[in-house]
Amino acid sequence: MDRERVLSGMQASGKLHLGNLVGALKNWVDLQNNRQDKYDCFYFVADWHALTTGYANPSTIKESTQDLLINFIAAGLDPDKSTIFIQSMVPQHAELHLLLSMITPLGWLERVPTYKEKQEQLKDRDLSTYGFLGYPVLQTADIIIYRAKHVPVGIDQFPHLEISREIARRFNYLYNRDVFPEPEGLLTEFPKVPGLDGRKMSKSYDNAIYLSDSPEIVEQKIRTMMTDPARKRKTDKGEPELSPVYHLHKIFSSKEELDIVAHGCRTAEIGCIDCKKILIKNIFAYLTPIWKKRNELISNPDMVLEIARKGSQKAGNVAEETMKLVREAMGLSCRV
Ligand code: TRP
Repeated sequence: MDRERVLSGMQASGKLHLGNLVGALKNWVDLQNNRQDKYDCFYFVADWHALTTGYANPSTIKESTQDLLINFIAAGLDPDKSTIFIQSMVPQHAELHLLLSMITPLGWLERVPTYKEKQEQLKDRDLSTYGFLGYPVLQTADIIIYRAKHVPVGIDQFPHLEISREIARRFNYLYNRDVFPEPEGLLTEFPKVPGLDGRKMSKSYDNAIYLSDSPEIVEQKIRTMMTDPARKRKTDKGEPELSPVYHLHKIFSSKEELDIVAHGCRTAEIGCIDCKKILIKNIFAYLTPIWKKRNELISNPDMVLEIARKGSQKAGNVAEETMKLVREAMGLSCRV
């Protein structure tokens, strides 16, 4: 039986944090491990996408790409089970992006909510570029070139997926064939990871714990986290729900520990430092195998590159099959 294809990617712009790990990457690993009979998974680093907003300062892209690959593998993606690759190492994505740009109405792109939002957010950059407007077209090419059915992404990516479905449909309609299935977002429930200040963990809020942070840094970040602001002294009773430390406990601690810290906080039987110590222990337990694997991989960059090379070749073979159909449909078959 043919397995259904799953595809997802992450943009190579900066370091990965605990929120990305718990929210997205763990889900990718689960799809790879638990549904092997059903899904054929493709995961990649979107380095071209990093240029859509970072074109003026590309010096960090190489490092971010390598770091992301390392994190993918350290978190449990297995090159024997999933196809792990780098976008720019599969040039067929660029060819499909070009061809899809011929059929994509400008209005569709201008209407994508993230287009204006990102421009507002990144006021210091000039984002009135062709490439930035075409971000969702490139993302569409990434997905449909594998004729992927499922795209595990966060809810923020759903507007992009909507346009991917529209472009796939338009292609099939214009050329009167059934080349592309319409991709569906695969949204799994996962806990929202709060950052050190209680807001959503995010690079731009400067409140994140990074996978590349050393144990010392992680410990220090948690030790200096804010707690219930009304609990000034150890003898004051606190309300755990008002403390971001407690919300992190909900993700990383056992039910028993959760009860102990909640009760201890409300009765002032335990202080914030003791509460944080339990959290530190549990986050260490969660991250230690990942840290270990990261260190192995960091000292073995050739192996990481080899994984990406093999994965990109495998991805390229699948992509090329699709491109043959696309070229044929669009009158470019002389080249085949
Ligand atoms: N836009 C995604 C992000 O910001 C990255 C991405 C690029 C992607 N191409 C994709 C995600 C294709 C899913 C499928 O992280």
